[in-house]
Amino acid sequence: MALPSVASLRQQFALDSISFYEPAPDFPAVRVENRLGRAEIAIQGAQVMTYRPAGQEPVIWLSTDAKFKPGKSIRGGVPVCWPWFGPHDEDAAKPGHGYARTVPWGLRQAVELDNGATQLTFTLEESDATRAMWPQATPVELQITVGESLRLELTTKNMGSEPVVLGEALHTYFVISDIAKIAVQGLEGASFYDKVDGMARKVQKGPVTVGAEVDRVYVDTNADCWIHDPGLKRRIRVHAPAANSTIVWNPWQEKADQMGDLGETGYQGMICVESGNALDNRVTLPAGKSHAMMVKYSVEAL
Ligand code: BG6
Repeated sequence: MALPSVASLRQQFALDSISFYEPAPDFPAVRVENRLGRAEIAIQGAQVMTYRPAGQEPVIWLSTDAKFKPGKSIRGGVPVCWPWFGPHDEDAAKPGHGYARTVPWGLRQAVELDNGATQLTFTLEESDATRAMWPQATPVELQITVGESLRLELTTKNMGSEPVVLGEALHTYFVISDIAKIAVQGLEGASFYDKVDGMARKVQKGPVTVGAEVDRVYVDTNADCWIHDPGLKRRIRVHAPAANSTIVWNPWQEKADQMGDLGETGYQGMICVESGNALDNRVTLPAGKSHAMMVKYSVEAL
């Protein structure tokens, strides 16, 4: 399945608050700009790349070295990890974090809401290549609402006749003033798997602060998280009541250097606080049922 052309998207969707462009040749994206906020979303992966509420600093981080190439994941924004999170359970050859972030999605609807927000609905385009990785019949939709806050809702339907076990996460990269000076609140007392310590199971004491590589999957917690950022005089609220896992990740310098698309000092200005259902919290979706995971990002002044 190929990505659509900007010309065909322009023909299908004419709305004052949206425009189509190419961050790189043959790599279409949609820009949303309304009185409440602004966002850029790649058609591949239905991946939000940037978001800024009107009159405020950017909230979603995109690497200065991000690559916009079909089949490659974009470093930054809100990658959709689906239908598994992290490495595939049985087949290491399958892509980490699933395939949703590296395949074309279709823009199905674009509407302006009464409150001034713009809402886009995407569905993943199934193809022989996606079916080879995931034969189950589970159409998935992402609804993105760009307004005073950024809201995403990922909905999976099981159209098959057997239950399906699903892993998922919205792998969001946030803009921060300085990794050494921020704290993530809301995970106090939660239990986590520490990926940088052989998946050891630990309990979070106090807010999460970062002074080295951090890669943790917090489980059985759906409380709001707050990225407390005195440098930007704000806190970002992460509200995701149907996400029972939170992943906190910063690769720190050495890993970032090896990655090659995080920017020279990129790791200092970003943190991933990902809302999902991973590891122990994977969702068993009965035949005929739907499952939705909503996240909402909003900003408060400190
Ligand atoms: C995090 C994982 O969610 O994503 C990390 O916990 C991983 O282990 C990181 O390194 C980035 O993954 P990727 O595939 O986008 O480089």
